Amino acid sequence: MKGEVYFPREDSILLRDCAQMLAKGIVAEMGSGTGFVLQGICDRIECGIGLDINSDAVRFAEEESRKIGCKNLYFFESNLFSFLKDYKIEFKEGRLWISSGRTGKIFDFILFNPPYLPDEGSDVALNGGKRGIELTEEFLKEAFDFLKADGRILLISSSISNKGLEDFFDEHLISHRIIKDTRLFFETLYCYELSREKL
Ligand SMILES: C[S@@+](CC[C@H](N)C(=O)[O-])C[C@H]1O[C@@H](n2cnc3c(N)ncnc32)[C@H](O)[C@@H]1O
Repeated sequence: MKGEVYFPREDSILLRDCAQMLAKGIVAEMGSGTGFVLQGICDRIECGIGLDINSDAVRFAEEESRKIGCKNLYFFESNLFSFLKDYKIEFKEGRLWISSGRTGKIFDFILFNPPYLPDEGSDVALNGGKRGIELTEEFLKEAFDFLKADGRILLISSSISNKGLEDFFDEHLISHRIIKDTRLFFETLYCYELSREKL
């Protein structure tokens, strides 16, 4: 399953705006696409790791980041967290180290603008699963394994498919608050801040 590289839309802008308000330290972005979100915060964070299942997107984001001089961003092909489970990533002395093993709880922030449309064919940039939230649920089951204890997740969700997502947060003891929304004529987009600590 592969899709087109996802070029930034309103959902990308919402995530970038929220990341520009809050993100700091060592940041991972799941489904980094063109790298638009990380590139918008590269001068306020120590290091950004972009992960995407689409190898064309990974190449695009690398080239674009080099062109605009974001030297602290790194992009890897990964099916959700597979890359971080296969390799140990560390950020020390101003550079990224990759060795064999598994990455620990190193991230201050993990960002995700997931595919959230229900059953939208085979395009991995759009199809979030039968209810539109299955991929997001898979992401959330693993994300806290890589997040510092006081770390935060910034997650985009849409009124088209977010029924059930707040129930999932409650069932899995995930504190949540909406930090910004964007109303479009056919849907409302939400940016959630999530944590295992009380928000
Ligand atoms: C809605 S697009 C967002 C792209 C970019 N972050 C932005 O905001 O413009 C979703 C991205 O998630 C990626 N993706 C889909 N399934 C994935 C998976 N299982 N693991 C990693 N990335 C995935 C897609 O390739 C796509 O780049």
